[in-house]
Amino acid sequence: MSTAISIIIPTYNERDNIIALVKRIAQALSNYEYEIVFIDDNSSDGTAELAESLSPKYPVKVIVRKNKRGLASAVVDGLGYVESEVIGVMDADLQHPPEVIPYLVKELVSGADVAIASRYVKGGGCQGWGLIRRIISRGAIFLAHLLLPSTRKVKDPASGFFILNRRVVANAKLRPTGYKILLEILMEGEFQNVAEVGYIFTTRSKGESKLNARQQIDYLKHIYSLMRRTGELLRFIKFCLVGISGILVNMGLLWLLTEVAGLFYLLSAAISIETSVVSNFVLNDFFTFPDRRLPGSKSFFSRLVKYNLVCVAGLGVNMGVLWLLTDVFGIYYLIANLCGIAAATLWNYTLSTWWAWK
Ligand code: GDD
Ligand code: MN
Repeated sequence: MSTAISIIIPTYNERDNIIALVKRIAQALSNYEYEIVFIDDNSSDGTAELAESLSPKYPVKVIVRKNKRGLASAVVDGLGYVESEVIGVMDADLQHPPEVIPYLVKELVSGADVAIASRYVKGGGCQGWGLIRRIISRGAIFLAHLLLPSTRKVKDPASGFFILNRRVVANAKLRPTGYKILLEILMEGEFQNVAEVGYIFTTRSKGESKLNARQQIDYLKHIYSLMRRTGELLRFIKFCLVGISGILVNMGLLWLLTEVAGLFYLLSAAISIETSVVSNFVLNDFFTFPDRRLPGSKSFFSRLVKYNLVCVAGLGVNMGVLWLLTDVFGIYYLIANLCGIAAATLWNYTLSTWWAWK
């Protein structure tokens, strides 16, 4: 009873959804104290006026932004207008069923800092989505998981439907681009426990989606901006620098062992390859992943073994791409090898962050 909840709802031309939305929220939250804060970007269809007209009967506030556009930035601005300790965010178009909100609140009450309505946990899904849309959505989330490792514990970091405790965002510098406000909060907010509640993202029955190619590009820009701000870009650059140092170690030692020590060149190569893998490992452990290093010699060796296996497979990737581009596509072998190195670097990085330095 009486947990106060503020629900922020960004709107752009959602007139036909507003009444049903407010009624369903009122129904779903009849046991709670709540307010609904619409952040409308000066819709031309009278969304703001209609929402405002509901305010005598329902706890509705309407903020109109005259000079800005954007879902995520509307939510950030909305944070400045809400009063409760518990803050929710959802869409206006009823694709996010308001009936899910009490389940999210329950998760908060039982200790979560952020509770996400999720399409990708048990009980979740998307109504009426074709294969292409599914692939794009999954691909977008895969990219976030790959490039922003701390989002990996969340199955649906692209959800636009969630609630959180105010303290999660109280000191966060939120600078999102585009649609994905949750991604921004997961990267910049302060929290311990995240819960996900399955829900079905229903089809839109009224009005039109504002999602277009522009938002897809904004999504990539947003991920890049988060990578820069959170140091993940720097980490990838360090990983590449270590890789380059490994090439120098490998070549230098190969020359030394063959020319100076007089070993058979293939034996020299085996020794220098393994030495460069080990030197890469040590450098990455201290320089690239200092925050993921678990103390203790046992875990040091398990990381070393994992990294070694990753590199062996990476060698396979390199040679596979080299062969494919040279033999099958007829590309000059030195150019093909550059592509092979690039592919192997991506492979090594992905597996290193996913496994060796989890
Ligand atoms: N203020 C404001 N400004 N609101 C906007 C803008 C804008 O520029 N663009 C869209 N909105 C509002 C819409 O009016 C709607 O309430 C909500 O944001 C979602 O917009 P849609 O265009 O319907 O987005 P979608 O259905 O493709 O995607 C939504 O659902 C996904 C799944 O949960 C978004 O919330 C995504 O972030 C989310 O991943
Ligand atoms: Mn929608």
